[in-house]
Amino acid sequence: MAGRNFLFVPGPTNTPDRILRAMHRAMEDHRSSDFPSLAAPVLEDLKKIFKTSSGQAFVFPASGTGAWEASLANTLSPGDKVLAARFGMFSHLWIDMAQRLGLQVQVLETEWGEGAPIERYQEALAADKGREIKAVLFTHNETATGVTSDVAGIRTALNDTKHPALLMVDGVSSIASIDFRMDEWGVDLAVTGSQKGLMLPAGLGIVCASQKALAQYDQARLPRCFFDFGDMRKANATGYFPYTPSLPMLYGLRESIDTLLEEGLENVFARHHRLAEGTRAAVKAWGLELCARAPKWYSDTVSAIMVPAGINGAEVIDVAYRRYNLALGAGLARMAGRLFRIGHLGDLNECMLLGGIAGAEMAMRDVGMKITPGSGVGAAEEYWRSTAKPLAKRELPPRAPDAQPAPAAAQKEKATAGASR
Ligand SMILES: Cc1ncc(COP(=O)(O)O)c(C=O)c1O
Repeated sequence: MAGRNFLFVPGPTNTPDRILRAMHRAMEDHRSSDFPSLAAPVLEDLKKIFKTSSGQAFVFPASGTGAWEASLANTLSPGDKVLAARFGMFSHLWIDMAQRLGLQVQVLETEWGEGAPIERYQEALAADKGREIKAVLFTHNETATGVTSDVAGIRTALNDTKHPALLMVDGVSSIASIDFRMDEWGVDLAVTGSQKGLMLPAGLGIVCASQKALAQYDQARLPRCFFDFGDMRKANATGYFPYTPSLPMLYGLRESIDTLLEEGLENVFARHHRLAEGTRAAVKAWGLELCARAPKWYSDTVSAIMVPAGINGAEVIDVAYRRYNLALGAGLARMAGRLFRIGHLGDLNECMLLGGIAGAEMAMRDVGMKITPGSGVGAAEEYWRSTAKPLAKRELPPRAPDAQPAPAAAQKEKATAGASR
């Protein structure tokens, strides 16, 4: 198809041209004397993205799933108890991994569309008199349902119950897009991947570990090899990796960090919020509901939009892709067919997102949904226009006077006009 593919899945996201250019290089020796001058500052500067000064960043050639595994395997032992809420596909998959690794998971079953239940976490922590719970697993942004949960709230629950469990946070679809404060919120292991807020291809699993988490490493007995923090720390201390790192991804990560810090993290968060609000205005104008059940849980990186009974959300996605070259996110597991998702994170602005909203609008009408043409686009436009920052005054060339054609020229124009139509 001519034109660009419109990528509106909630990861992978669009990779800015400057990052693509930074990655486009000949391969180099990852054991050269130059390599540490690339790797060491990347590991150091990553900490700014996580907002930690005391933590340590690890970069694995993996994805978010690998980063989940690294966080568990380096700090826990077989049979250890962990506490986790299940309220969407990704919180489910992390629980499933913990179980498959031999951990005992106390699961707080929660409605999909709700956020992580802080009060129930707190009750479970308070009831754990023997301090058997070694870690709390918390999904900051549940990408499957478009729900953001309160990380500061879970830290307060741990503090109020004076519970020593490690706080592990999945920030795969929040970090570098939604406010995340590792040190301030006392997060012990923060997990992300490269293909969302960092605007890179998939290929890196990134974990930041607190000193408290690192102190657990020696006594943690879960098997680990590829994801071993010890091997990584030893190699990273000299500026190298214990195995062959992806050079293009490291160059890309350098450019990604620079891009984010140049915009300013707070501006990045504000931009995501504004784009999300415009998308939510469109959803409202369509007369549809979000899967997220209350505004306090609305995600600024992904909107999961429920389709009415009798409509298959998968068909909306299929039509959007095949007819309009627009990629929308699917409903997963128990949400399959019941919703579609618009990812609004990464390298994105209003006009790009209007394209996605317009394509979704067309596809919904194509599959028989009663949507007023232009309603979502119009609502998003008006939201963004009304919240746009005033522009600085600028001298523009004056408007040319309206021309009056001379009588002879006007006659000639009239005579030829018909022919040219
Ligand atoms: C919240 C969340 N956690 C974990 C993952 C798994 O990450 P990956 O697919 O990079 O392994 C995803 C992927 O979309 C996610 O959205």
